[in-house]
Amino acid sequence: MPRPVPVIDDVTLDQLFADPYPIYARLRREAPVAWLPAARINLVTRFDDIMAIERDHDAFPANDPRSLQIKAMGHSLMRKDGADHARERKTLEPSFRPGTVKNYWRPRFTAICNGLIDEIGPRGEADIFDDFAAPMAARALMEITGLVNVDWQDMLWWSQSLINATGNYGDDAAIWSRNDEARRQMDLAINDRIRELRGTDDLSAISGMINAEDPLSEDQVRANVKVIIGGGLNEPRDAICTAVHGLTQSPDQLERVLRNEADWRQVFEESVRWIAPIGMYPRRTARAVVLGDIEIGPNEPLGLSVASACHDESHFPDGDRFDVFRERKPHLAFGAGPHFCLGTWAARMMVGEVAVPELFTRLKNLRADPDQPARLGGWVFRGPLSVPVRWDS
Ligand code: HEM
Repeated sequence: MPRPVPVIDDVTLDQLFADPYPIYARLRREAPVAWLPAARINLVTRFDDIMAIERDHDAFPANDPRSLQIKAMGHSLMRKDGADHARERKTLEPSFRPGTVKNYWRPRFTAICNGLIDEIGPRGEADIFDDFAAPMAARALMEITGLVNVDWQDMLWWSQSLINATGNYGDDAAIWSRNDEARRQMDLAINDRIRELRGTDDLSAISGMINAEDPLSEDQVRANVKVIIGGGLNEPRDAICTAVHGLTQSPDQLERVLRNEADWRQVFEESVRWIAPIGMYPRRTARAVVLGDIEIGPNEPLGLSVASACHDESHFPDGDRFDVFRERKPHLAFGAGPHFCLGTWAARMMVGEVAVPELFTRLKNLRADPDQPARLGGWVFRGPLSVPVRWDS
């Protein structure tokens, strides 16, 4: 006999921000679908339940009029379903396919990365978050989107304000008003580039959407560029920081990686599994459904905690541990199903094949700063907030 969704009312947003993983472990054990009043969402925490949801988009659509993401960015492809979603995704595919990433984006990512390492190299110390990962991800994203007409610092604050608004489960008015200003600025920059890129064969995302055989409207382009700014900057930035944090905390593993006992791609995959940059994303129930032994009513908001799924003991033994050498298995940090991250190959290249190996190869004896520990935070989006390091200069 299925039971109703348990209510877990002793979990606060502050606790989730500080460290959600012990809470997820408890939920996976006691209440794998749980109504969290603090977040006003039914949180789904087990790997197999999330996979079941991602296999059935009729029962669990991505579109939800209550979506904070739609309020924050407009209605992008990420919150559409079926043919509407497929049509928009198709226009973006040429910019993101593995061949484009390898031949077109890789040299650009490498140039950005080397320029940044040239700048910090003589200093012998840095905060990887501010001094490398943020500008690396922001500049790469200017290229991918086609917004080469803006400053990387603008990309950074636009992205952060979109992320804050999308995760604004506490409905903070200051976060919404800051986001309105960011949207105004983004729209001006996007409109300029739409005019310049029409009719060109540039491989940027804006060009893909406006020059496709079945082109998108300018409103659709603006919403999709925002979802790419929101979803394409913080995540690679946080993955770079997590990889550096994980390896510098585990010098034995770092040594083995530098001896080529694991490839950098494994470092990348383990980093995003360990601390999934997008910790949770929403779906909705189109009708009443039963997940495991829990019955969920129709039109209920669901939060798929892929961060929790990536630590689910039934798939990842000792999952709280960073272990580059663990058995390779599919994880859920990039989601699954029709909305599987479009930027996966770009992220693997930017972070796993360019940024992280270049950092450890060029900055000799790169290590954690013994006087300043790394700081981490977040749950809807989670990652290091500061990664102080030193090297021999
Ligand atoms: C480590 C880096 C990244 C991670 C962990 C990540 C994670 C994710 C996840 C979990 C989703 C699914 C969201 C949902 O279904 O609601 C997603 C979708 C998406 N991501 Fe990423 N992402 C990363 C990097 C990027 C980059 C670099 C870009 C673009 C430059 C990007 C663009 C997108 C887009 C456009 C979608 C929506 C796809 C669709 O709805 O069909 N992502 N990403």
